Amino acid sequence: MSETIVSRLKEHRTFAPSAEFSAAARVTSHEAYAALYAQSLEAPEEFWRQQTTDIVWRKTWDTFCEWNLPHAKFFVGAKLNVTETCLDRHLTTSARTRAAIVWEGEPGDVRTLTYFELHREVVRFAAALADLGVVAGDRVAIYLGMIPEAAIAMLACARLGAAHSVVFGGFSAEALRDRINDCQAKVLITQDGAYRRGSVVPLKQMADKALLETPSIEKVIVHRRMDDGRAPVTMHEGRDVWWSDALSRPASEQSMGLARRPDAFDAEHPLFILYTSGSTGKPKGVLHTTAGYLAGAHVTTKYIFDVKDSDLYWCTADVGWVTGHSYIVYGPLSVGAACMMYEGAPNFPDWSRFWSIIERHGVSILYTAPTAIRAFIRAGDEWPNKHDLSSLRLLGSVGEPINPEAWVWYHTVVGKGRCPIVDTWWQTETGSVMLTTLPGASYSKPGATGLPFFGVEIEVVKDDGAKVAAGDGGKLVIKRPWPSMARTLFRDDERYKQAYWSQIPGVYFTGDGARCDSDGYFWVVGRIDDVLNVAGHRIGTAEIESALASHPSVAEAAAVGKPDELKGQALVVFVTLKSGQVASKALKDALAVHIDKEIGKFARPDQIRFADALPKTRSGKIMRRLLKEIASGTAQGDTSTLEDLGVLASLRASDED
Ligand code: PRX
Repeated sequence: MSETIVSRLKEHRTFAPSAEFSAAARVTSHEAYAALYAQSLEAPEEFWRQQTTDIVWRKTWDTFCEWNLPHAKFFVGAKLNVTETCLDRHLTTSARTRAAIVWEGEPGDVRTLTYFELHREVVRFAAALADLGVVAGDRVAIYLGMIPEAAIAMLACARLGAAHSVVFGGFSAEALRDRINDCQAKVLITQDGAYRRGSVVPLKQMADKALLETPSIEKVIVHRRMDDGRAPVTMHEGRDVWWSDALSRPASEQSMGLARRPDAFDAEHPLFILYTSGSTGKPKGVLHTTAGYLAGAHVTTKYIFDVKDSDLYWCTADVGWVTGHSYIVYGPLSVGAACMMYEGAPNFPDWSRFWSIIERHGVSILYTAPTAIRAFIRAGDEWPNKHDLSSLRLLGSVGEPINPEAWVWYHTVVGKGRCPIVDTWWQTETGSVMLTTLPGASYSKPGATGLPFFGVEIEVVKDDGAKVAAGDGGKLVIKRPWPSMARTLFRDDERYKQAYWSQIPGVYFTGDGARCDSDGYFWVVGRIDDVLNVAGHRIGTAEIESALASHPSVAEAAAVGKPDELKGQALVVFVTLKSGQVASKALKDALAVHIDKEIGKFARPDQIRFADALPKTRSGKIMRRLLKEIASGTAQGDTSTLEDLGVLASLRASDED
């Protein structure tokens, strides 16, 4: 079932937090976790009432949950503005002068924004957006690198009640165009260029290409990051405006009002759309709404990262993915955390960069991805060992299964055996963490993500929905609605129903395979649908295939994953060519460049293999399982339904070169 990295090490140890860590934690024992978990399921409204007292409710809710399978509403009747919880409320506490964001640029420049300053910047930028015509209910696309302006832009949209749609800066112009058009964004916020591994990604130039075919966009706001002319920009008269100029426009009456108290929105008012890959067709616009999402991000951050005023918390994800939304912006700011933010690559100028950031700034909580950890292992222990990492007290992992070797290395070499590790399982659609251990409460088992978070009723089941026995594999499903769940797919409710709620009646199907052991710990093995997780990036095989099929030489393509030591999964594509086209190294390179253009460089296949034909069943379905086996070089499975056995020999012969 799993294609993810297969552990060579049998690791049966469990790792308990130190007595000192537990004593200072929010939840100090497994029993306390279990009691709170029981309350969260038995008396959910009471649980969420008690846990959300720090949220600034302008009006409390009338009904906690309305559940019309598969549509949920939470905190119905409540009114709030998310930014009051993330910003305004901190202005009357000691957080006012504390760092909200400590940012380091790739070239080494550092900027710190206190809560006071971040609030001011958000209010000013919200006023600028309002002056440009953005109103509640609009969509705003954000195509930025990892700079504080990304958080400012997101929060400014939230302040106005406009839904943001952040597009990861690694996506191509074509991918940006499609996402803008799908959500009909009115404004695009971008920057001239972003630093990445010493070079410059020309975001505005790429945006300009997208903007040739995005009729909904009325205004483009451009932040100037480069001051050395490395990313020249053409400003389009009447459409494009520099961020700094937008701020200095005379504030309208409405804008002035924003500095006082922002409008409050309904609990179910859209907060953001985030596109993610599915097993079929185009990317899905996952829609999250105001109160439930904030409640989920807030409560998970509070308990899982156990953030204290003295902490400097660093989530290394990109704001373009859901981890960046929930655990760089909304969750941490809602609890008043000081957040480290870094612009560039982990290995620039060398593999010391992360460790040097931790040492120089005193990072105490580090939340990163297994693929990064494996890359650090490969680079060598000398890099972390050169630095003083004694400020660290808690480590986190997210995005893919962490193999026990990587877990133990993270614990030993980075955490020096002192720091608990939380392995958090969740998805774009779940909005916040669903499975984890609480760091002061329960021991960890390397390779297992852990236990259900509060309010999460989760099970491993067979196809008919029956629970499997402890230790048996099956499909991971969530059995009741939770506040931060996606409400629908933007303008495609049918697909929402079909993708998540049709496989197993009455429950949310995650797309993941898992098992739950006799201690109640969940072991997530990875996707069992046609979605790949390559270096923590979620990639739909259908997207890759349709991108390849749009190349003039390609007749048909099939994309599959194979286990990879570093990336968890590697992407292998099998391509058949149109008649008259000749397989060559040059064509292979052209196809790789074509994927860069259609989707983005991060989706570049690790292998492109030309084949005479793809293996199909008699009914014409591509036999992916067989292709996976061929890609992985594993034993050949059942080929009894294969239409043409001759295809097999030619596929096996189609090695990388
Ligand atoms: O397969 C699971 C994997 O990432 C998928 C969700 O991807 P995405 O929506 O991009 O969100 C990633 C960040 C939350 C899941 O279906 N996944 C995520 N976290 C873990 C994981 N697999 C195993 N262990 C995890 N901790």
